[in-house]
Amino acid sequence: MDRVTVAPHPLAGHLLADLRRADTPPERYRVLARRLSMVLALEATADLPTAEERLTTPLTEATGQVLGRSVIAIPILRAGLGMLEAVTELLPDVGVGYVGLERDEETLQPTEYYFKVPELTGTRVLLLDPMLATGGSAAFAAELLRRRGAEDLTLVCVIAAPEGIERLTTADPEIRIVTAAIDDHLNDVGYIVPGLGDFGDRLFGTF
Ligand code: PRP
Ligand code: URA
Repeated sequence: MDRVTVAPHPLAGHLLADLRRADTPPERYRVLARRLSMVLALEATADLPTAEERLTTPLTEATGQVLGRSVIAIPILRAGLGMLEAVTELLPDVGVGYVGLERDEETLQPTEYYFKVPELTGTRVLLLDPMLATGGSAAFAAELLRRRGAEDLTLVCVIAAPEGIERLTTADPEIRIVTAAIDDHLNDVGYIVPGLGDFGDRLFGTF
């Protein structure tokens, strides 16, 4: 399996195009972010193992193929929250944890302000963070989750910068990345170009 997957479904690019538009207002932005996150979550779980389960239909006995591994979703606060509802809707049995990180706007270094996660051993962990920019936040979160037992770890993001992919996969060679796009580069203040601006600000209307 590829370490980095750009979601091949045409809806991924279509929804991302609307997210990128500077005049998309927060109300519509939230809807688009949720829809796109569902497409990305489907891609990030397409290879989950299944298990056979006997069941009874209205006509007879049958065998169903049910999910064979638990999934834990962990949004990085705050922008990752815009991706969480899609995952809980798609996977109602999902466990949820939270990692609160903030980038210092000058040094771009992440600092942790909240960390609460369920048991991760033996699960598929989906780390939700829409923007993989320098990769500092995702690499920091991945390290925290590995220390807490995460084995099968996937970052689900909306846009990845080449610089972020390089930093994250160097820091954590086993991590998988599922994204809607790999953009061109980072600007000198750490924003992804062409990108979509500040995801958290656009999601929560904090300009
Ligand atoms: C954004 C984004 C990522 C981080 C990516 O969060 O949601 O967490 O930046 O940047 P990096 O790859 O360079 O670390 P931000 O710090 O703006 O916080 P927010 O989610 O509260 O808006
Ligand atoms: N965080 C964002 O929200 N946008 C970027 O382009 C980079 C980091």
